Amino acid sequence: MTAIAVDIPLLTLKGQQAEIGAEVKAAVARVLDSGVFILGPENKSFDAEFASAVGAKYSLGVDSGTSALELALEAAGVGPGDEVIVPSFTFIATATAVSVLGAKPVFADIDPATLTLDSKSVSGALSPRTKAVVPVHIFGQPCDMDPLLSLAKSHNLAVIEDCAQSHLATYKGRLTGSIGDLGAFSFYPSKNLGAAGDAGAVTTNDARLRDIVNELRNCGRSAAAGYNHVRVGHNCRLDEIQAAILRVKLLRLEAWTAARRRVAAIYDEGLAGLPIKRPPLGSESSKPVFHLYTVRSDRRDALAQDLRRHGIGTGVYYPTPVHLQPAYAALGVKAGSLPVTESASREALSLPMYPELSAADAGRVVETVRRFFK
Ligand SMILES: Cc1ncc(COP(=O)(O)O)c(C=O)c1O
Repeated sequence: MTAIAVDIPLLTLKGQQAEIGAEVKAAVARVLDSGVFILGPENKSFDAEFASAVGAKYSLGVDSGTSALELALEAAGVGPGDEVIVPSFTFIATATAVSVLGAKPVFADIDPATLTLDSKSVSGALSPRTKAVVPVHIFGQPCDMDPLLSLAKSHNLAVIEDCAQSHLATYKGRLTGSIGDLGAFSFYPSKNLGAAGDAGAVTTNDARLRDIVNELRNCGRSAAAGYNHVRVGHNCRLDEIQAAILRVKLLRLEAWTAARRRVAAIYDEGLAGLPIKRPPLGSESSKPVFHLYTVRSDRRDALAQDLRRHGIGTGVYYPTPVHLQPAYAALGVKAGSLPVTESASREALSLPMYPELSAADAGRVVETVRRFFK
């Protein structure tokens, strides 16, 4: 049997490359010609431009979203013996960032509509050792932050937003990454804002936390100058080449986000009435950015196969929740302990989503899904 080619993939960067490839090449050439590759003018400009784009006072470029989480947690004072409440329905870096600091991730369940942290479950996971909570704006859906912020206030917890998938998403008029104490962004190539390799950023409104992250990312070196190392740090700096590329793409982020929302609206309207759960399209108080458009169906695998037969790619995020990963077996969190998370892992299916996806192709995805359920 000949394999059927996927002509509507889950994701492709080809359209983006066609749109901005020449500008990206010019930006790379500019850096090569300058001979400045580390913490130079591109980093400085990108830090200012990204902070402004996400409504935070400060942004510091780092070498990945994973590093951004680690540095943000470390700056917030998380260390050995502490507990940090995280969702289990996320990419594993949300939890490993806690573990590598010698602290313990404690998993809370998620809200069935948005698939983001459920504050009631967070409340039940609190202990005297809880130091921080990490809401993840998964798939670009803003987490309901107000109840978490009030829990954090009453229990003296740091709030670190995992914004790896939520560039420009807003919650009650505030951009994600500007709401908690710190935000951690990923610019992994497939993200809504993606570099040509690994990259990330930490955002904050707090000058003290900014200074700590700035030192941590650069071998503990004081910003003041010279070889004065004021803390034990890391080398998590963002390359000038990546910063220059990100500056080109940041100029398009609003338009690309609007295009993602248009695709989501076509899916939302076209899939209405089917026996699947659709993600919230947004409201006055919550404006998602659809890093992924993820539906849920108890016939997920059959639906994915059928779409594939019709040349349509899909993805499963995340087939195994973090608490059931072998890496966390030693924590002894049993299957069944996070029911909403576990059912989302069984049911979630992400449909093709990228800004250049045409209305006609989105319509073909809709029709194919509708035919499957007929
Ligand atoms: C929710 C979430 N957190 C953290 C990360 C880690 O980011 P990176 O791959 O840039 O290290 C990712 C991306 O893969 C992610 O999706």
